[in-house]
Amino acid sequence: MIDPQTVEQYGLPGHLQAVPDEIDAVHLPVTGTLPPELDGRYLRNGPNPLPGRRSGHLQAGPGMLHGVRLRGGRAEWYRNRWVRTGAFHDKPFVTPDGRIDLTATSANTHVMAHADRVYALVEVGLPYEVTPDLATVGPCDFGGRLTTAMTAHPKTDPDTGELHFFGYGFVPPLLTYHRLDAKGELVHSREVPVRAGTMMHDFAVTEHHVVWLDLPMTFQLSLADRGIPYGWDEAHGARLGLMRHDRPGAEVTWFEIEPCWIFHVGNAHEDAGGRVILDAVRYSPAEWTALWAMLSRADAARGFSPRLSRTDAERTFGPLPPPPLPTPPPGSDRGVGSRTDGARDLGAPAIGRSSLHRWILDPATGRATEQQLDDRVVEFPTIDDDLTGRRSRYLYTVTGNEPRSRDHCAIVKYDDVTGTCAVHELDAETMVGEAVFVPATPGPRREDDGWLMAVATRRDGSASQLLVLDAARVEGGPVATVELPRGVPAGFHGSWIPRSRE
Ligand SMILES: [Fe+2]
Repeated sequence: MIDPQTVEQYGLPGHLQAVPDEIDAVHLPVTGTLPPELDGRYLRNGPNPLPGRRSGHLQAGPGMLHGVRLRGGRAEWYRNRWVRTGAFHDKPFVTPDGRIDLTATSANTHVMAHADRVYALVEVGLPYEVTPDLATVGPCDFGGRLTTAMTAHPKTDPDTGELHFFGYGFVPPLLTYHRLDAKGELVHSREVPVRAGTMMHDFAVTEHHVVWLDLPMTFQLSLADRGIPYGWDEAHGARLGLMRHDRPGAEVTWFEIEPCWIFHVGNAHEDAGGRVILDAVRYSPAEWTALWAMLSRADAARGFSPRLSRTDAERTFGPLPPPPLPTPPPGSDRGVGSRTDGARDLGAPAIGRSSLHRWILDPATGRATEQQLDDRVVEFPTIDDDLTGRRSRYLYTVTGNEPRSRDHCAIVKYDDVTGTCAVHELDAETMVGEAVFVPATPGPRREDDGWLMAVATRRDGSASQLLVLDAARVEGGPVATVELPRGVPAGFHGSWIPRSRE
């Protein structure tokens, strides 16, 4: 997550500092009791610029995987490895003849398994396969069938084992839906008509539908060289789309909603009346545009390598007009070049605040309704993945990571039946990342019969721990804490990969 110092000082605070090397450690110290049934690997991805290379905000830099092997109540090893992608080797994203190279990306956002293979993902490129020990195998296009990028947030259908995903681009096809079967074969791809190329970080699936997030972040050529070339576009409007994934050629039914930004979906399901209920983390336009502008100005001031450089864009689109000057949004902060004294700036208001919302899409009326479920500032929603696309009772998030937050970080468990929350709060000097739910048993069980795993890192970057919490008793704090051999920079998403899938 983003820290105020990252953007206000255009430097990286401790918990976002890249690590300079790859290491291995064995026999990690454990406080508490690791559940003996945990037999597998917790893997987590995040950007980690190479030593000596100037890089920008947290969304940039080659992916680095951090892994912890648990077995028999012990933490056997930790290791970290860069994903050897095209970006790692400095390959240009746009080739000299103007072609986009989907292997020249960073694979820095997520790591997950499907059909006994493990992939590192970023939304603008091909997945990179890695071994269970984190060595890079290489880019994967599923036998030449995948010709678009692949989202970092694919969804596994718990009944069929299929993997639903999509790819978006800034040149046609702008949006393509794909599906892998349970064996890992790419069996279906179809282009989805949209009115503009938008940034689409996540989506949802239900038993019968895909839910598209067509939000007002459009590709804007004028933003080439400004980090990620997407900007807020009020005129685009905002809509959610329902598309039957079980009927080839089915059209999308669109539902207009209030403009907003959504990075991450919690879950979606269909109710008995055929309505689709989507729970996701929502940013208001003001919160989102302030955050995005702050990131963009930080990028510009730091001169980091953008996703689409001006040179790249001109290879594809021809000569571009001069770049616009970065403009501070009204009242958001102090603009380019401003500095603080190095302390956390707790005097300025937090920005980038997002909270849990629910949208109900009713095909019978063609209307969507929206409801805020809680006013806590949260991100990184996770669930029991065995309930992807089905009614789920519990949703897990983290809070306190938004820029300039005054709050302690915490892991928050929402109970949609009782409307209550369970919270585990960390101390003031510790950040915590996404909490991944790990089932206690593969068979029938209570929904929260399992564990939450998350990496906690000191704000100064000096140390990290893998926390293991009882998902049924989040408020009780970790049942086990694994001391990692180094500070692990705050990153994005991770997965538990049980031994049976290695
Ligand atoms: Fe994400």
